Amino acid sequence: MNASSFEINQAARILESGGLVAFPTETVYGLGADAENPAAVAKIYAAKGRPANHPVIVHLAPGADVGYWSHELPEAARQLIAAFWPGPLTLIVKRASHIPAAVSGGQDTIGLRCPSHPVAQALLNEFKQGKGGVAAPSANKFGHVSPTTADHVREEFGIAPNAQLACILDGGQSEVGIESTIVDLTRMATHGPVLLRPGHISREQIAGVIGRVPNTPDAAAPRASGTLDAHYAPRTALALVNAEELAGIAERLLKAGRRIAVMCRVTQPVSQAVAHIRMPLEEAGYAHDLYAALRAMDVAGADIILAEAPPDEDIWQGVNDRLRRAAFDSAGALERLMK
Ligand code: TXA
Ligand code: MG
Repeated sequence: MNASSFEINQAARILESGGLVAFPTETVYGLGADAENPAAVAKIYAAKGRPANHPVIVHLAPGADVGYWSHELPEAARQLIAAFWPGPLTLIVKRASHIPAAVSGGQDTIGLRCPSHPVAQALLNEFKQGKGGVAAPSANKFGHVSPTTADHVREEFGIAPNAQLACILDGGQSEVGIESTIVDLTRMATHGPVLLRPGHISREQIAGVIGRVPNTPDAAAPRASGTLDAHYAPRTALALVNAEELAGIAERLLKAGRRIAVMCRVTQPVSQAVAHIRMPLEEAGYAHDLYAALRAMDVAGADIILAEAPPDEDIWQGVNDRLRRAAFDSAGALERLMK
């Protein structure tokens, strides 16, 4: 199932010549381009339908020279890199002035991450002999659910090679399943570390390494598209409901003649639902399955997806964040459909 070294080498040549390649990471699949080629980066924005002022994460090979990308690495960055790279953690630091601003949406900062997925690492080692950076947002259309399999990428962009996407590398299902944790370290003196996006690496784990708990974003914190309220959203309305209320709400919707899809966790499946999925009890398993479950529920032809809310605990922060954003656009839908 994993891409062969022949395919990986071919993909590296495509990136070097300014083309787009989709590749697996342990979090979600990325839509990659040469981070130092503004024309190639522009193709990412066009393919995603994403505004050009949204910065993109730059992926680096294991052992890459981080100092090439940023001349101002705070001590906390070094500590977090030593603790969590390769892995699902993105650091926002000051961008070295020779790195084109296109990759940062014009900001003077840069997001850096070293993925642990073996196919991503092989691609990054092959691309510019391991000295390049691959700019890559998640390989989905802007605002839609991130892809965790190569098939999801095909659903988003069609079969490669096509006009937008030259190649899709397969690496199986992404292990983590939700996007990387993002920590902003660009304003340490005034604001301290700031958690821009929660993920599998938790606030407490970060605090354990740098000795201080990252703050929540203030109004002046860097823009991040993954932090827009409505993001990661299925097209079907989605309501996040407490476990104790799920059965009652489902019953009212069914009585009103609605078609429902249900993502339960500790509650019993609802037998009259047009689709239901029992989600894993543990956070890691839940995150791993989340986006595939949302995609499956989205094509079930339901009027609304009912998602049982997981516990409100630190470890569930990343998952709860994605579920809240998936539900954001559907505010009011539940009340309307119960009538
Ligand atoms: O797990 C991940 O992070 C995946 C895989 C492919 O690595 N990538 C991903 O990319 O989720 P994307 O573009 O969908 O989300 C990246 C987030 C966005 O919210 C973006 O605004 C933020 O990172 N970001 C990137 N560079 C930034 C910067 N210089 N300053 C502030 N935010 C930045
Ligand atoms: Mg994304």
